[in-house]
Amino acid sequence: MQSVNQQTAHAERVAALLREMTLAEKIGQMTLVEKNSITLHDVERYFIGGLLSGGGGYPSPNTPENWGKMVDEFQKHALNTRLAIPMIYGVDAVHGHNNVVGATIFPHNIGLGATRNPQLVRQIARATAVELAATGIYWNYAPALSVPQDIRWGRTFEGFSERTELVTELSVAYLEGLQNPQGVLDLDAPTAVLGTPKHFVGDGGTSFGSSTTFIAVQYLLDQGVTDVDEATLRELHLAPYLRALEAGARCVMASFSSWGGMKMHANRYLLTEVLKNELGFSGFIVTDWEAVNQITPDYYEAVVTSINAGIDMNMVPFDYKKFIHCLTKAVNDGDVSMQRIDDAVSRILRVKLEMGLFERPYSQPKLLPEVGSAAHRQLAREAVAQSAVLLKNEGNLLPLAKDTRLIFLAGEANDLGLQSGGWSIEWQGKSGPITDGTTLLAALVDSESTDSQVVFDRFGNFDDQVNANGEPQQADVAVVVLAEHPYAEGKGDRIDLALSKEEQELIARVRARAGKLVIILMSGRPLIITDVLGQADAFVAAFWPGSEAAGLADLLLGDKPFTGKLSYTWPRSMEQIPLNGNTGGEPLFPFGFGLST
Ligand code: BGC
Ligand code: BGC
Repeated sequence: MQSVNQQTAHAERVAALLREMTLAEKIGQMTLVEKNSITLHDVERYFIGGLLSGGGGYPSPNTPENWGKMVDEFQKHALNTRLAIPMIYGVDAVHGHNNVVGATIFPHNIGLGATRNPQLVRQIARATAVELAATGIYWNYAPALSVPQDIRWGRTFEGFSERTELVTELSVAYLEGLQNPQGVLDLDAPTAVLGTPKHFVGDGGTSFGSSTTFIAVQYLLDQGVTDVDEATLRELHLAPYLRALEAGARCVMASFSSWGGMKMHANRYLLTEVLKNELGFSGFIVTDWEAVNQITPDYYEAVVTSINAGIDMNMVPFDYKKFIHCLTKAVNDGDVSMQRIDDAVSRILRVKLEMGLFERPYSQPKLLPEVGSAAHRQLAREAVAQSAVLLKNEGNLLPLAKDTRLIFLAGEANDLGLQSGGWSIEWQGKSGPITDGTTLLAALVDSESTDSQVVFDRFGNFDDQVNANGEPQQADVAVVVLAEHPYAEGKGDRIDLALSKEEQELIARVRARAGKLVIILMSGRPLIITDVLGQADAFVAAFWPGSEAAGLADLLLGDKPFTGKLSYTWPRSMEQIPLNGNTGGEPLFPFGFGLST
């Protein structure tokens, strides 16, 4: 917590800086630029206040050392300006420092929701903050406070749960993990990282078909319209922010979505009257990526509207000259008051001071060994074990018996990219050996807990496995791993969540070759599994576990018990989606379901 003395000192320093600053310097502070869109020279020339890497915005080569060097180089130039105000660098470290090859990748929030374990979530955020600090990044666009109401949404996995209370509990724990290195709020500590509760507000409540965004594909729900009355908005979607502010949130990101007939970025009522005035938020509001541009096609008008609505920093992210030009003109023409500019800049500077950025603006190479360290990977492995939900376990098949001799393993059991999901090295994620980690195959083969022979074939063709008489060898147990192909944001909006024909055929093919069948589903949300559930003796919902799938092997082999409980309702059919429009009767598995071993 900040002492009164510190607050006064910061207020005085902010006031002194404001007296010195030119309009250009002030507007520079309000400008957040994507790092590939700007030169080092322009960082100085335009007094840029913030820089970011979007999903996949890594340096080349993509190593932790190189990240630190890149960020430090930008910082050097920011500090080279007349008033030497440090810039703040942000990334989406939404499940670990996930753009960095070699960083620990934790389970996505949907899986952490299933752990019901705020202490674990706090530790994960702490580990992530240390990995960020090593690379000079003290600003994380997380946690998501989204409360997804329709799992067709491509960001379902970023929400801890469909229920407000669980989202509140775990997102506050995450925020504390980032900002409270010693268990109390201390943004000034060397490894504290500023969190960004997002997306304010109602991002999880958009209706299917309400999106007008087209980025290579037509978005369906993402960035759409949250069509609920104010009481519902407050109860379902605003509630987590109240607790996050109490816990010390100093930056909030506005939502791409709309409410009350307008884009959130234009919504003065919610941004200024509710968040800043009613709830007393004294930190700064950052926009989402190019979101100001969505308010209206006239960019000047869009800038004026958003800044007057209460936006303090604009994630431009590309054409910063145009933004700076428009906002300068708006101030000169009296469309945005100097008072509003001073308020925005004060908020930004205050948070930078609270963070100790002026004193410690650079990366901490001595922390580089912490990036992807054994201890952090161990924590991720534990989180994987706690997040998997056992949906079916006929005859107590799991954990597997010690005398299991032969296991056939099929499907996506050996793909780090698929097990990591979206927001992993690339914005959309991708399949393949994208980073360091452990797949289920590697974990089973290396495990000292079993002597079983493991035979892997991705396509479930075990034709070469024959017994002494040349007949097809039957395995004691087969394990089929299904993976929803990674995606992020509206590119993951789906009209249908059925399994593919190939997946169903794979299950049938493997089923015929084993006495018992385990299905493990890695996905960003519940999929429709009703038709294949009958073929499985055991079914595990693993969500997107991240880089340490050894946590799944621990469960299969009985080294750890299954304890995960669903953080979302699991529908029986598409007719049961969305939740609030549910007319299809009982779900396949209710919220909170999960068998124990
Ligand atoms: C997403 C945000 C993210 C930002 C920066 C946007 O498209 O909606 O969640 O923080 O990009 O990557
Ligand atoms: C960025 C993301 C961003 C998205 C929005 C991507 O190129 O990497 O961070 O959210 O664009 O369109």
